[in-house]
Amino acid sequence: MRVGIPKERGPRERRVAAVPATVKTYVGHDWDVMVETGAGDAAGFPDAAFEEAGATIVPDTAAAHGANLVLRVGPPSRDEIQLIAEGSILVSFLDPFVDTELVEAVAARRIDTVAMEAIPRTTLAQSMDALSSQATVGGYAAVLMAADDSPRFLPMLVTAAGTIPPSKVLVLGVGVAGLMAIATARRLGAIVHAYDIRPETKEQVESLGAKFVEAPTQEGDEGGYAKEVDAETQRKQQEILADYVADADIVITTAQIPGRPAPLLVPADVVARMRPGAVVVDMAASSGGNVAGSRPDETVDIGGVRIHGPIDLPSRVATDASRMYARNLQALVARMITEDGGAAVSLDDEVVGPATIVKDGTVVHPRTRSVMGLEEASS
Ligand code: NAI
Repeated sequence: MRVGIPKERGPRERRVAAVPATVKTYVGHDWDVMVETGAGDAAGFPDAAFEEAGATIVPDTAAAHGANLVLRVGPPSRDEIQLIAEGSILVSFLDPFVDTELVEAVAARRIDTVAMEAIPRTTLAQSMDALSSQATVGGYAAVLMAADDSPRFLPMLVTAAGTIPPSKVLVLGVGVAGLMAIATARRLGAIVHAYDIRPETKEQVESLGAKFVEAPTQEGDEGGYAKEVDAETQRKQQEILADYVADADIVITTAQIPGRPAPLLVPADVVARMRPGAVVVDMAASSGGNVAGSRPDETVDIGGVRIHGPIDLPSRVATDASRMYARNLQALVARMITEDGGAAVSLDDEVVGPATIVKDGTVVHPRTRSVMGLEEASS
């Protein structure tokens, strides 16, 4: 078995899909691990550290993609897909319910493809849940980004030069990222309010020392995810949240609905009520945005209110984000090991199966099939 770890070339991507500790595990299976030169540099893992762990450093991306098992963070480009040998396995974030051209390209090359977005959110799969591990990093990084841009202290300070009141932070959307954002803002000493549409989040918010904003709530779906709200509920949400948004020094928004555009929680008239110097980090900017005016990968200034739509939050903490992601991959790969010491994608596996998008040249994931207009998968 040859495992390939290419250098990521996505915009602002600094993470890497293996770290020396996970390389050691793969080498322990008697597998050859080929790391593209410089793949770990931006995450603080130099070639020498990978070599010490037993990897071979390969000079170019073709060699790293020419493995039986290719592990990546972000989706491969169309050119990179052509470098992956037919019949190999690819495991990566792939945006497999949107980027159907990529799915067609890997299917045409008969690459057995597993998408980290599709790992089930179950207790069994927790150690492989890269959406959660990276959202944890993202929530942390969002607060630091806002704090860095804010002209105010987060904690209360009592000094000879006067008493400085603490900053007020509002977190909208209390999933994995939101919880980490609350915890981080609390550790920095801010007063934190938070809100989520799912009622069970109230207790979680309060257990972190924040206050829950009493706007409308509704039960999520059977998977624990939020459902889209009707227009009247959205209007009520926006109305109740408006005063909290207008009063906040920092607003972090994380609200998402799988497969749907992100809900608009802060409309333009509410942004107009915010104080100059207030900072917004809209973590949902790429999927439509929770805040009017936010744009992915840009900072927009509206009347002195700075609205960030970062796309690289986990990459801002690249060492630990890579460690966590690499460990997610290692746990997933462990389930792929075959009796003869190789690796294979089994649709029968409780975690690998549901995360498989393409197997033997066929698109097998029901959601991808439905997006592509294919009939329901027979298996
Ligand atoms: P996400 O990234 O899809 O959404 C973030 C948050 O936005 C969610 O908490 C959602 O309720 C909220 N939201 C959506 N629409 C909203 C609206 N109109 N107003 C306010 N808030 C809104 O969610 P994430 O962080 O990926 O996970 C959400 C939930 O999934 C978890 O809290 C949990 O229930 C479940 N989960 C379960 C896991 C497990 O069992 N191993 C692991 C991870 C998540």
